[in-house]
Order: sequence, then structure tokens, then C-alpha cells
Amino acid sequence: MDPRVDSPIGVFDSGVGGLTVLDECLARLPAEDFVYFGDTAWFPYGDKAADRLRGRSEAIARWLIGQGAKIVVVACNTATAAALAHLQAHLTVPVIGVMTAESHAAVQSSRSRRIGLLATEATVASGSYQRMIHAHDAGAEVTAVACPGLAQAIQRDSPFDEEIVGMVRGFTAPLREARVDTVILGCTHYPMVERLIRRHVPAEATLISSGEEIAREIAGTLARQGLLRPTDREGRYSFACSGDPAAFRTIGSRFLQMPFGEVLQVDPGATDGV
Ligand code: DGL
Repeated sequence: MDPRVDSPIGVFDSGVGGLTVLDECLARLPAEDFVYFGDTAWFPYGDKAADRLRGRSEAIARWLIGQGAKIVVVACNTATAAALAHLQAHLTVPVIGVMTAESHAAVQSSRSRRIGLLATEATVASGSYQRMIHAHDAGAEVTAVACPGLAQAIQRDSPFDEEIVGMVRGFTAPLREARVDTVILGCTHYPMVERLIRRHVPAEATLISSGEEIAREIAGTLARQGLLRPTDREGRYSFACSGDPAAFRTIGSRFLQMPFGEVLQVDPGATDGV
């Protein structure tokens, strides 16, 4: 058996958003160990330049590999758009990002071929989703809406106030106007307010988020590479963040509905933009 089978899966995001991906992974891959890093000191990523995000993502991924990660999961759309290709080119372990699987799922689910996208400014500006959707269906009409401030409103301790409702109402207006039948939640924070978003998109619209799709992709990659852990044990998990561990623990454990134990505070290093 490959000795890396027993190594953990490394997952990172700018904050708690990647926990929506981890949540699906814990359900689909219950025997695996996970190390999760939330870059809360750098949060949000959505307004940062791509070269800075590449450097930071590489430093985080190298820290995860230093923790023994057999695979690195970029559980953040903004970091995927900015850094996935760079990480795959420079690291020796498999690196999986979000976006590809949801783009495919969105094209498969849309009957009208009118697809909506909600994402951070950086993700929308990168054009990555639009390209991936068009790679699957060149005729699909994509209504892409940047949602500045939404991830921050979600990551605050108690997000359900009039302000966030107003934000979601405003950001979804172009989707209602375009009568989309499929909406990609293109930021891993957004599934945390999925019920709120559902009320503001066209009633028949299908919401597509990264968690489920990426968990399937990770399972497939590990299986093909002979790195899946035997299922006769319960996996362990550990958490680290770059900002305040107590704040991360409070919001994270409430969302994941499990105790976090000790959250390490780590600075993976400020790599120069690449
Ligand atoms: N959760 C991140 C994403 O998927 C981004 C939120 C942010 O840091 O701006 O895009």
C-alpha cells in the first residue's frame, strides 16, 4: 500500500467559506484525515490582485504539504481563478480547485442555457467561469454578477440582518431579469446563505455550489491514484487560521456543527506576488 494513503487532505480558503467544501468532504470521505487552513488575516481575497493571491496561495499550499498533505484542495473560487494553474505547475502533490466541476454541472442542468453566476469581484473579473461554461456550451448565456462585500457579511458573526438581505436582493436582480434557470454560487462562502439566496433567484432555478462536485472529484482522484483510505476508521480533522483563532472557531464550528478543538494560528509566510 502507498504510504501516502494515511496522509491528510489539505484544504484552504480565505476564511470559513471552504468549510462548505469540507462539509461535503467529511460526508463523502469519512475515513480521511483533513487539515483545514482559513486565511482569515488576509480575508477577503475578492478584492486582491491575482499575483498577490498566487504568492499567498503557494505559501499556504506549501504549509499544508509540510503538514503531510497528500493532495491540496483550493476550496476558494477566487484563489482557484488566480492560482490553480500556478500551484499545479509548481507543486508535486495533486492540486484540485473549484470551478470546473460546477461549470460542467451548470451546463448539464440548464434547459434554457441561461446561467447566472454570483462570485467575488476578482473571480468575475478573471473570466474563468465564463470560459469554462463556454468550453462546455459555447452558446450558453452567462449573467455574471460580482458581489462585493457579500463574503464579508457572511463571515461576520451574525450575518442575518437587513443589510445582507438587501445585498442579496440587489445582487440577484440581474439574474431575475435575465430569467436564468441555473445559478452557480461561485464563492464558497455563499452556500452558507443558500436559503436566503434561493428566495431571491427565479423560483425554478437550480443552485449549483462547489462542495458536492469537488468532494466527488477528490474521491475520484484519490481512488485513481490509489490514495483512498480504507473505510474502516473515522477520519480526524484539524484547523488552523492566520487571524484570530477564537473568532474562526466560533463561526466555523457553528456552521460545521462539530467541535473544532484547538485552532492553530499560523502565518504561512508572505510570499511576493508571482
Ligand atoms: N470564499 C472565497 C471564494 O470562494 C472568497 C471570499 C473572499 O475572500 O473574498 O471566492
